[in-house]
Amino acid sequence: MEALVPSEQATTGQCVPDASLKELSFYHASEGKPLATPWQVAMTRADYIAQFDLPSGVVLDCACGSGIQLAAYASRLKRPALGVELDRQRAVASCLNLNTIATRYSTFDQGWHRRSLLFSGDGTSSQEIASQAGLESGSVALLMLDPARPRNSRTHGLDEMQPNLPSVFEAWKPYLALTQHGPCIVLDLSPRLTQELRDGVETIVESFWPGVDKTWTWMSRGGGRVDRLELWIGGVATPNVTKRFVRLSRTFGGDDAVIEQGDDMKQERRALQPARRNEWVTILDAALVESGLVDAWLSEQLSNVADTRWDESSPRRPRIHHNGPLKDSSHPFVVASGRVVEILDLPLDETNIDAIVATALANDISALTIRCSVDADIQPRLQGSIDRQLRNRQGRRKAFLTRHATTNHLLLCAQYPKNSDT
Ligand SMILES: C[S@@+](CC[C@H](N)C(=O)[O-])C[C@H]1O[C@@H](n2cnc3c(N)ncnc32)[C@H](O)[C@@H]1O
Repeated sequence: MEALVPSEQATTGQCVPDASLKELSFYHASEGKPLATPWQVAMTRADYIAQFDLPSGVVLDCACGSGIQLAAYASRLKRPALGVELDRQRAVASCLNLNTIATRYSTFDQGWHRRSLLFSGDGTSSQEIASQAGLESGSVALLMLDPARPRNSRTHGLDEMQPNLPSVFEAWKPYLALTQHGPCIVLDLSPRLTQELRDGVETIVESFWPGVDKTWTWMSRGGGRVDRLELWIGGVATPNVTKRFVRLSRTFGGDDAVIEQGDDMKQERRALQPARRNEWVTILDAALVESGLVDAWLSEQLSNVADTRWDESSPRRPRIHHNGPLKDSSHPFVVASGRVVEILDLPLDETNIDAIVATALANDISALTIRCSVDADIQPRLQGSIDRQLRNRQGRRKAFLTRHATTNHLLLCAQYPKNSDT
């Protein structure tokens, strides 16, 4: 076990711009870049954690990689960072990244940086680390773990995590400071964990801290993908919130969209009926639906949520039909929302594209986006033909074209007001 003092490390290698904030560059080693947490994600979490009343003590990351998440927590919370990383070169990179952040945010109190330490070794060797770092029982304010996982794992099994949860909890439990809600822990897990594996994680946590609060957090940077899945435990869980979904803003520092839900309140889903003119059709963020938080969000958005009809035949484009408009049809969780103005019994192909454009023009449409599955070879040609024909015409509304799952009819949906075209 080797202790490294960040300020004593000489810079080696090249630093590369962060994926979310180009003006910030980080060091990575041993191909650690793809494993690193983007700064926007790291700071979103740090800002969130800053709302909690953390006990005093250090921030410990026992598999810290390039140390980016560790640097975000330590600088934001003004707590000394204690990082452990098996790969020595990555441990050195973590030191350099802590130095970068300490310099960048030099208006912050720098005490945290002077007292930060990195260890190159096994993150479960708590006694050795504690004795070298002078840690006593209860001196870790926050434990975080973003374990390594095999690159091409199909199962995302819990025993594949390196280091694994039981050995980390076993090792560090005596050192964690306790709040009235238990210790403060954030686990950064695979976004592909199934419900069964999530239950498995909860069982492990419960075996160490029975009855402790837990908040699952899904994070998405858009495009319908879940990018991160975290479990916030004990003093950093939100009481009575079991699930949270965060759609990060497109730009660093912008507003994120957040939805939270208490105990599992999944509503009965009504199946799709034949489409009707004037009903509303909304294509939702697939990641929101995957997180299971869509019902909580819809109950904020629709006055009669029980009347929603679901079409989940395309997991990439989960779609609902409903009777009244959404309260906010340009909300970040909405891919597109519009009112059915025409129901067309036509295949979507090159023979019919002119008829479809003519229908759009008759409905005052200025731009029409195809939002249903079409052969990848012909999709650009169809969309190109629509765009060319509608260009310079007098329509005033945007619209999208989707396909009804059971009848196969095309639905021309006009957007009120003009929607963003994501
Ligand atoms: C996903 S990365 C962490 C990335 C980090 N959150 C960041 O922001 O850069 C996981 C790291 O755990 C390290 N690791 C695996 N087993 C370990 C162990 N037993 N002790 C310490 N580190 C370990 C790997 O070398 C890898 O760098």
